[in-house]
Amino acid sequence: TKTTLSVIKADIGSIAGHHKAHPDTLLAASRVLAEGKKKGIIADFYVTAIGDDIQLIMTHFRGVNDPQVHELAWSAFKEATSVAKDLGLYAAGQDLLSDTFSGNVRGLGPGVAELEFNERPSEPVAIFMADKTEPSAFNLPLYKIFADPFNTAGLVIDPKMHSGFVFTVLDLYEGKAVDLSTPEELYDLLALIGTTSRYVIKYVHRKDGEPAAVVSSERLNLIAGKYIGKDDPVMIVRLQSGFPALGEALEAFSFPHLVAGWMRGSHFGPLMPVGLKDAKMTRFDGPPRVLGLGFNIKAGRLVGPTDLFDDVAFDEVRRQAAEIADYMRRHGPFMPHRLGPEEMEYTTLPDVLKRLEGRFRPFDLGYRPIVKHEDLLE
Ligand code: F6R
Ligand code: MG
Repeated sequence: TKTTLSVIKADIGSIAGHHKAHPDTLLAASRVLAEGKKKGIIADFYVTAIGDDIQLIMTHFRGVNDPQVHELAWSAFKEATSVAKDLGLYAAGQDLLSDTFSGNVRGLGPGVAELEFNERPSEPVAIFMADKTEPSAFNLPLYKIFADPFNTAGLVIDPKMHSGFVFTVLDLYEGKAVDLSTPEELYDLLALIGTTSRYVIKYVHRKDGEPAAVVSSERLNLIAGKYIGKDDPVMIVRLQSGFPALGEALEAFSFPHLVAGWMRGSHFGPLMPVGLKDAKMTRFDGPPRVLGLGFNIKAGRLVGPTDLFDDVAFDEVRRQAAEIADYMRRHGPFMPHRLGPEEMEYTTLPDVLKRLEGRFRPFDLGYRPIVKHEDLLE
């Protein structure tokens, strides 16, 4: 039977602001999952958090989108929410957009990344979890891991990786998907995934069909139509023997690239790789951070984790990220630190701008402007 690795995350409230999940909420979620393990719904689990987000890492044999697994995750978040409410934690229950569970948590608020595969004799995986950013924050690292030979030596050296990978890219505005094959369609891939506000890499498969990676793609603002949170994403990457080596996956995070999110989900900032001890949000509610946990999966058992970025080898990346954070912050409310108008549509900025509407008077520019970007908002 195939093993499924399900990572389901939600922000159900945190302490002292949008800062850090409270340990009691993790315990509450763990208790529910332990019960689910006893009942045989899941084989194993690990509960963790970065910033204000809790991640439920679960293994089972029920395939993706399984109603029982999703219901278990939903009740874990519900329990954690009630603890969050008892403690008066901030934004308790934030990501649970619905009161009623209907068979699947997708579209209800939580983020979901699930991968079903035949376990290899040794099945190493890395799980990456980010806060204060969005699913497309993984576009650049995924491109580097699976398509850039300067990052991933295996693309050149390993015969099993040499033929490349297939990327499934979602258009989050239209609800469409396209499969692009690399290296043949590398430039087409980049033409899409560089537009991080719209296109997100959902899956990567090896050319022989083996699943290699998956990202949660839920965008809460596009579900709710208003700003709720920045849909802090999770990603699963399978490693070694024909997949990228652990170090090739980690190498992609050695460049603290700019991602959308940070304060009020409205700013670009560097993605800082951190260990569990730094998996909290401080400066300007950030900077955006990514946590990496490594596991082996054996007959459904989760062996681990190991805290991948909690290492001296990433100190310099963090220092660089802090320096970039300084530089970006000096722009204050100006673009390109602050996001562009299309993305700001979902924040509270339009409410502020509305107040100015009556104040504008006609002004002859000397030409008739032809504005096209409004179309993008439809
Ligand atoms: C971003 C985030 C925070 C909040 C900010 C304001 O994803 O969660 O930066 O947007 O702390 O929060 P409120 O409006 O709840 O006071
Ligand atoms: Mg968050």
